[in-house]
Amino acid sequence: MENPTYDTTIVRSFVNWSILWGLVAILVGVLISFQMVNPDLNIAPWFTYGRLRPLHTNAGIYGWGIGSFMALYLYMVQRLCRTGLWSPTLAKVQLYLFNATIITAAVTLVLGFQTSKEYHEMEWPVDLMIVVLWVIFSVNIIMTIIKRREEQMYVSLWYMLASLVGVAILFLVNSAAVPVSLFKSYSAFAGTNDANVQWWFGHNAVAMVLTAPPLAIFYYFLPKSTGVPIYSHRLSIVAFWSLIFMYLWTGAHHLLWTPVPDWVQTLAMGFSVMLIAPSWGSVFNGYLSMNGQWHQMKENYLVKFLILGITFYGLQTLQGPLQAIRSFSAFIHYTDWVPGHVHMGTLGWVSLVIFAAIYYLYPRLCGTELHSIPLANLHFWLVLVGQLIYSVSMWIAGVLQASMWHAINPDGSLSFTFMETVVRLYPYWWIRALGGVLYLVGVLIFIYNIYKTAAKAQPQSVPATENA
Ligand code: HEM
Ligand code: HEM
Repeated sequence: MENPTYDTTIVRSFVNWSILWGLVAILVGVLISFQMVNPDLNIAPWFTYGRLRPLHTNAGIYGWGIGSFMALYLYMVQRLCRTGLWSPTLAKVQLYLFNATIITAAVTLVLGFQTSKEYHEMEWPVDLMIVVLWVIFSVNIIMTIIKRREEQMYVSLWYMLASLVGVAILFLVNSAAVPVSLFKSYSAFAGTNDANVQWWFGHNAVAMVLTAPPLAIFYYFLPKSTGVPIYSHRLSIVAFWSLIFMYLWTGAHHLLWTPVPDWVQTLAMGFSVMLIAPSWGSVFNGYLSMNGQWHQMKENYLVKFLILGITFYGLQTLQGPLQAIRSFSAFIHYTDWVPGHVHMGTLGWVSLVIFAAIYYLYPRLCGTELHSIPLANLHFWLVLVGQLIYSVSMWIAGVLQASMWHAINPDGSLSFTFMETVVRLYPYWWIRALGGVLYLVGVLIFIYNIYKTAAKAQPQSVPATENA
C-alpha cells in the first residue's frame, strides 16, 4: 500500500496556540489564587476575581483543552485512518476561527458580558462562532474517517466521534436563549428546568471534553510510547459504550438537595455510582497494558506522564461517584473540596496526557529529537507536586470548612459565623497558591523545552512511515 502524506504543519500550529492559551489559563489561575488571599489585587472592575474566574475556566477547558484536542485529533485521525485530512484548507480556517473565538470570548468575559451559566458563560454571538467552528472541525474529522484506508476503527476514533457528536448536542440545547441585545440574552428555560439543562450540559462537558478526548489520546499514545499494544481492544470498546450510555444521566448530581425532583436526583446518583465500572475499565486496560513493561516507568518519561495521568483519572472517578451520594454531597457541596476534585482532573489527568502527547509528537513533527529529556523529567515532578499540593490542600480545607459550617452549640445555634470559617481558610489558600506557582514553573520549563525543540526543526514535511 502506498504511503499516504500526512498534514503536519496545521497540527504544529494548533499545538503552539493551545500551549499559549494553556499558559494564559494557568497564569490567570495563579492570579485568582492570590486574589483569594489578597483582595487588594482586585484593582479594577475587569480585573476582579468575578471577571477573571470565568476567563480562567474557559481558557483552561476550551483554549488549552479543546485547542490541544483539535491538534491531537488532526494528528491521530490521519494515522488511524492511514490517509491525509479530508480538507487541509478547512483545518486552516478552523485554526483562525478557533483563535478568533477564544479572543472574543476572553474580551467579552473580562468586560462582564456573560450568561452566568457556568462553562457556558459566553453570550449568543460567541455561541454562533462556536457552532460554526464545531461544524467545520467535525465535518473534517468525520469525512477523514469516512475515506479511511484502515478498515478497523481503533477505540480512539470512537471516543473522538462521541465527543464531536456529544458536544454538538449539549451545546445546542443549552444555548437555547432569547437575545435582547448584542450582549445580552435570556435562557429559553426557566427555574428548575433551566438548572437541570445547565447541569446536564455542565457534567457532560466533563464527559465529552474532559474525559472522552483524553481517553482517545491515552489509548493512542500509551501503545505508541511503550511500543506494545493495548491489553484488550474488546474491553476498550465495552468500556466506551457503557461510559457513553451512563454519563448522560448524571448531570443532576450537581443539584442534590435542590428543588429538582427527588427521582431525578436519585437517578443521577445511581448512574454516577455505576460510572465507576466503565471508567475503571479504561484504567485497568491501561495498567494491564503495562504487564512486563513497568520498568519503563523509570526509563521512559512519556510513560510516567501517561500512567500518572490514568491513575488520577482512576482516583477522580472514585471520588466523583462518592461526591454524587446525597449524604456525602450534603457535607462537601459548596466547599473547597470541589476545586480540589476539579484540579486533580484538569491538572492531573487531562493536562498530563496532553503533555505526553505533545512531547511525543512535537519532535517528530519537527524531524528532530526533544531538546532535553532531563528538563521533561523536571517538568513532570514540578507539575505532579504542584497539583498534589493544590488538591490535597483543598480537600483538607473543604473538610474543615464543612465541619465548621455544621458545628452546632448545645442550644442549637451555629458555633461559627460565616466570616470565622472564611478566615480559617487563608492558610490553605496560600498553600494552593504555592502549588499553583510550582505548576506554573513546570509549564514554563515545558514551553522552553518545546521552543528549543522547534528551533532545531529540520525544514521537511514529515513522511508517513508510522504504523497506526
Ligand atoms: C465517574 C466520574 C465522575 C463523577 C461521578 C463525578 C462527580 C462529580 C460531582 C458529584 C460533582 C459535584 C460536586 C459538588 O459540587 O458537590 C463534580 C464536580 C466536578 N467534576 Fe467530577 N466527577 C467525575 C469525574 C470527573 C472528571 C474525570 C473530571 C475531569 C476533570 C471532573 C470534573 C469536574 C468538574 C470540573 C466539576 C465542577 C463543576 C462545578 O463547577 O461545580 N469530574 N463531579
Ligand atoms: C496552576 C494552575 C491553576 C491554578 C492555580 C488554578 C486555580 C484556580 C482557582 C483559584 C479557581 C477558583 C476556585 C474556587 O472557586 O474557589 C479555579 C477554578 C477552576 N479551574 Fe483552575 N487553576 C489552574 C489550572 C487550571 C486548568 C489548566 C484548568 C483546565 C484545564 C482549570 C479549570 C478550572 C475549573 C473548571 C474551575 C472551576 C471549579 C469549580 O467550579 O469548582 N484550572 N482554578
